[in-house]
Amino acid sequence: MQPHTEPQTDPTPASVPASPDVTGYCDGSASAPLHAAVATAMDVAQRQCWGNPSSIHTHGSMAAEAMERARLQVAALVGVSPDWVTFTSGGTEANHLALEGLLADRPAGRLLISAVEHPAMALPARRLGQAGWKLETIPVDGEGLLDLQALEVQLRQGADLVSVIGGQSEVGTLQPLAAISDICHHHAVPFHSDAVQLAGKVPLAMGRQGPDLLSLSAHKFMGPKGVGALVADPALPLSPRLLGGSQEAGRRAGTQPVPLIVGMGVACAVSLDTASEAMERVGQLRDRLLEDCLKRPGMTLTGPRLQRLPHHISLLVGTPQGEPLDGRALVRGLNREGFSVSSGSACAAGQSGDSPVLTAMGIPSPWRRSGLRISLGPWVSETRVLQLPSTLDRVRRESGLVRATDLRASS
Ligand SMILES: Cc1ncc(COP(=O)(O)O)c(C=O)c1O
Repeated sequence: MQPHTEPQTDPTPASVPASPDVTGYCDGSASAPLHAAVATAMDVAQRQCWGNPSSIHTHGSMAAEAMERARLQVAALVGVSPDWVTFTSGGTEANHLALEGLLADRPAGRLLISAVEHPAMALPARRLGQAGWKLETIPVDGEGLLDLQALEVQLRQGADLVSVIGGQSEVGTLQPLAAISDICHHHAVPFHSDAVQLAGKVPLAMGRQGPDLLSLSAHKFMGPKGVGALVADPALPLSPRLLGGSQEAGRRAGTQPVPLIVGMGVACAVSLDTASEAMERVGQLRDRLLEDCLKRPGMTLTGPRLQRLPHHISLLVGTPQGEPLDGRALVRGLNREGFSVSSGSACAAGQSGDSPVLTAMGIPSPWRRSGLRISLGPWVSETRVLQLPSTLDRVRRESGLVRATDLRASS
């Protein structure tokens, strides 16, 4: 047998993506390019850790060791012990496991979710509602911030679970997770947060200062697609949704994809090591870009100015006269100019209806399809990104909906 080489886990700087041509990629909230250190570690794991981690022979142990190292790395990112980490196929499955694992086998009770959840939480919650659960939404204000007083009042009648998205993917709102956790814990109600957009951007905390359950997805922070984790207090009675094996301490059956898990672990280690510095730089660039966008007539910010994801800009884009433009047409136009952005949450990008998130925030109906999301990362080129606002002007002018003279006045 070949001698075992340790998968590389030493983080290299967060600005190193494994793929070329990402200088104008401004859709990090949809998916981030693979980090070079992640790609290397996964490559080693593919070739060396291919055994079944449940097997008790040497090949199995090599895979199991690599997987348990990754579990430690994920746990370290969130500040918990590794027995809190259940690997899943991504954020969607983590949300399903939190919700259905905790609730589906119980008699129907009461479930509270925020009005601005990602569909990967809103839709399974709605399904529980159809199965007899009393599903209530917690309102948000015009910036997407949770109404804490409403939550307090709603919890007086008790609930089985509260779920609030930590960093809103479409409008960037950062929820006050510690304050929400205080309220939930005061009422002895477990608190889940979809933290898919938070990991690698802001520090995460659980337990007394945060959620009891947290969903993560590796591809949002320079890890691979197809792997995520539900991080949950092992004391919670979580029943598996997938049956057929005792993997993941009985919480999720199925042979684990060790190379993907190794990649996720390295992405967590890189984030822990470099994210705060990298996000400070990204945040400064985001601020300059945002300022330049908001100088132009017909562009307004959605979500809070300060309490938002550091890499994230969300705009309503219209003509200088105040007519809303179609966000999807703008995305196509910017794509032709070499910029990748999104017209809202990427998972809803195939749909063309009003954004439910903008609706919940009270954005008037004609504007609910004119959202544009620009989400940066350490891979972008500053020079290139700062060309985005003038490029957007050109795209607006070419769309035929904007009088060129109006735009010329703004630049
Ligand atoms: C907030 C949020 N939750 C969940 C998901 C789904 O994660 P995954 O793609 O890993 O299933 C996404 C993906 O866009 C997301 O932004």
